Amino acid sequence: MNLRETIIVNLKDRSYEIIIEEGLVEHWCREIKAVTKAERVFVIVDENVLGLHGERFRATLEASGLRWEIIPFRAEERYKNLETVSFLYDQLTEKKAHRHEPLVAVGGGIVGDVAGFVAATYQRGVPVIQFPTTLLAQVDSSIGGKVGIDHREGKNLIGSFYQPRAVLIDPGLLDTLPRREFLNGLAEVIKYGFIADPEILDFLLAEDGLKKGLSGQKRIRLIARCAGIKAAVVSQDEREAGYRMILNYGHTTGHAIEKVTGYSAVSHGQAVAVGMIVAAEMAHHLGKLNRDDVELHRRVISRAGLPIKLPQVEISALLEAMLLDKKYGTSNRFVLLEEVGRPVVVEGVPEEIVVKSLLATQEE
Ligand SMILES: NC(=O)c1ccc[n+]([C@@H]2O[C@H](COP(=O)([O-])OP(=O)(O)OC[C@H]3O[C@@H](n4cnc5c(N)ncnc54)[C@H](O)[C@@H]3O)[C@@H](O)[C@H]2O)c1
Repeated sequence: MNLRETIIVNLKDRSYEIIIEEGLVEHWCREIKAVTKAERVFVIVDENVLGLHGERFRATLEASGLRWEIIPFRAEERYKNLETVSFLYDQLTEKKAHRHEPLVAVGGGIVGDVAGFVAATYQRGVPVIQFPTTLLAQVDSSIGGKVGIDHREGKNLIGSFYQPRAVLIDPGLLDTLPRREFLNGLAEVIKYGFIADPEILDFLLAEDGLKKGLSGQKRIRLIARCAGIKAAVVSQDEREAGYRMILNYGHTTGHAIEKVTGYSAVSHGQAVAVGMIVAAEMAHHLGKLNRDDVELHRRVISRAGLPIKLPQVEISALLEAMLLDKKYGTSNRFVLLEEVGRPVVVEGVPEEIVVKSLLATQEE
């Protein structure tokens, strides 16, 4: 019997389950039938993922007795825009999609965000089921209902909160994930360890095979722990009025690094990893985090194969990019740790401390 973990996102009448099971891809239609009464589904899928796993998807759909349409698109950040949304609306109207017929978003965070946005707006809202296929999407982006697209003025500027009917996770799909993408997800796993669950950090430090990837029951348990933290945070603060901000640990600096380095030289995971070290240094200089816990950041991050230093970047450019980050507000605002597992949102960190902390991650 496959190990199966179920987590509830508790949002009253919009509550839903996250189901995590190795081999779920063989019977995912059963879960879809359990949460919607529809007889036809629209599978909106990343072209790459369809190429890698399409035969298995089709076999399950075929056996399910459901009617189905597969709509692939090129899930790249540069296509996370209104044009793709418009293409998807066209496909749905051509196929006469009815408002009770669900969309199933199969892919990484890009598919989840775009298909979720289409689901939120097509015919004023149709059901969506998230079926994430990257580690980042399985532990983070598929849960919590943030959906949206990019605008030329900034990433994720257009969007909404729109909760899925279910999140279906098959960790086995990660076996084909490139290492760079695995590391993007691992940076979020580390984030959960620091903000909420130090046992995740112990697990990561003890795990020999971490640089290559993870498998089996350990992988399911790790994904379930992270998904459980995300579910609990979202259940308390669905619309990011306050508490949900803790999920941005390492991200204010991380976003600035990505922006200043042009969104390609440094991956999201690498930027967030360095961002967490900057946050740890800041917390230390503010008298919150002790030096051992700052060094714990460096140990866990290096152990995972993520960087603890950045190539030389202009500090002034980073400071400016941080001010432009939409989560930053009027004065500066960072998620910092009082201690491991105890995050706080701190406003108005003195610029000299921000600069000192950034300098601690610069390569000589
Ligand atoms: N909604 C949220 O709460 C939230 C949170 C974090 C990030 N995001 C968004 O998520 C996006 C990033 O998501 P991502 O990191 O999953 O990236 P992604 O969707 O771009 O996928 C990364 C790459 O992995 C490939 N891929 C996906 N699954 C695969 C598999 N099983 N095997 C092989 N290759 C596979 C994709 O084709 C792509 O090339 C960004 O647009 C970001 O803004 C949203």
